[in-house]
Amino acid sequence: MARIDEPQDPLFQAINTSLGFDRRLWREDIRGSIAHARGLERAGVLDAAERDRLISGLEAVGAEIESREFDFERGDEDIHMAIERRLTELVGPLGGKLHTARSRNDQVATDVALHVRGRATEARLLIASLMERLLELATEHDSDPLPGYTHLQRAQPVYLGHHLLAYFWMLRRDARRFEQVLEAAEEMPLGSGALAGLNFELDRETTAEELGFARPAPNSIDAVSNRDFVLDFLYAASACATHLSRIGAEIVLWSSSEFGFCEPDPGFSSGSSIMPQKKNPDAAELLRAKAPRITASLTTLLGVTHALPLAYSKDLQEDKPALFAAADELELALRVAERMLRGLRFDTERMASAAADDLPAATDVADMLVERGMPFREAHGIVGDLVRLAVETGRGLAELTPDELAERSELLDERYFELLGDRGWLESKRSPGGTSSAALAAQIDRATAALGELRSEP
Ligand code: ARG
Repeated sequence: MARIDEPQDPLFQAINTSLGFDRRLWREDIRGSIAHARGLERAGVLDAAERDRLISGLEAVGAEIESREFDFERGDEDIHMAIERRLTELVGPLGGKLHTARSRNDQVATDVALHVRGRATEARLLIASLMERLLELATEHDSDPLPGYTHLQRAQPVYLGHHLLAYFWMLRRDARRFEQVLEAAEEMPLGSGALAGLNFELDRETTAEELGFARPAPNSIDAVSNRDFVLDFLYAASACATHLSRIGAEIVLWSSSEFGFCEPDPGFSSGSSIMPQKKNPDAAELLRAKAPRITASLTTLLGVTHALPLAYSKDLQEDKPALFAAADELELALRVAERMLRGLRFDTERMASAAADDLPAATDVADMLVERGMPFREAHGIVGDLVRLAVETGRGLAELTPDELAERSELLDERYFELLGDRGWLESKRSPGGTSSAALAAQIDRATAALGELRSEP
């Protein structure tokens, strides 16, 4: 039988080590270890002087890592071992006492949970900034019409502010999802040991409180094998990135000469090396393209945890590359989206003229007739006739003559021209949540309140 102290094969080390990526957990690891040292003192395992020496040692290790003076060694399998090794070098054999009543299994789960809490909080803040930008733009453009689309066909005109706020509410849901992530990561794994619990009676409540958790996790087996909070984070990140891809895609489309609805900030787009007239919306294109990578992290971790027997298995080490990559990409994308929107110039005249085509107002004319007592079927027939006449004679609906209208129904009087007049049919969309100026003003108020709420929550 192979002896346990036989040297490890370098290829084994290559697949087994996680230091290359988990060194990013050093802050969480040191924080967790300091709280653990305090817990050990409360349990009587350490005396107060030992506790304090361990804490100063841990702080010294942290300072070395922060200032990049820390020498990682070949034998350091992961960040937890590296920190403990260095601590022992600094404080002597006492360093070996820190790992009493702890396993790397509950230690790493705790570090990852702390990390997820930090990244979810950051994502929420960045989302709030982007929402603020959208709200600002929406307020600025609360009376600029553009065509609204279905099937990418011009459907009904809306105000640009209304259109932009659609993204605001998507992001509000994303922020909520990150709040749920904070909840999913509010139970502290530390104190679960390898899987079965500890031979020591640690005061986990206090440690949990010190680390910002709501309470200790109730089941040691679940605690060391649970990565649901990472999955939740990855889903929230995927949904959010997918929303950003929709904003990106729309800006790409709108920046084309065919649409000509907006122009990217020159400082935020690239030119072409051979076509000097071009200004490419690269940032928007990349926002469009980022989501799949983030979603890939979600499917990676779903795959890693699929059918995984209880409790801890090394498979779980793969949670971190997925988490870090997704969080990094999302934070970048959120920052870029905010900056990109800040510099975007809308061509509101071009939007308005695209929205001026009044054939899409046919439904509104029918609704007006219905409101005045005509059965909808009859109204539909009459309006169909008007649309045919307008198309055949190359005119808009507003250009039909009073006589032509009166021939078809006496209800087609001056109200018809009011409806089709400037902004008339945008303003007719007055249901709450609709595009009319009054409804939009109410929506802007709601959005302002929602953002205030988001900002005031911890
Ligand atoms: N590097 C490991 C991880 O990231 C730490 C836990 C190791 N636990 C163990 N029993 N080998 O998951």
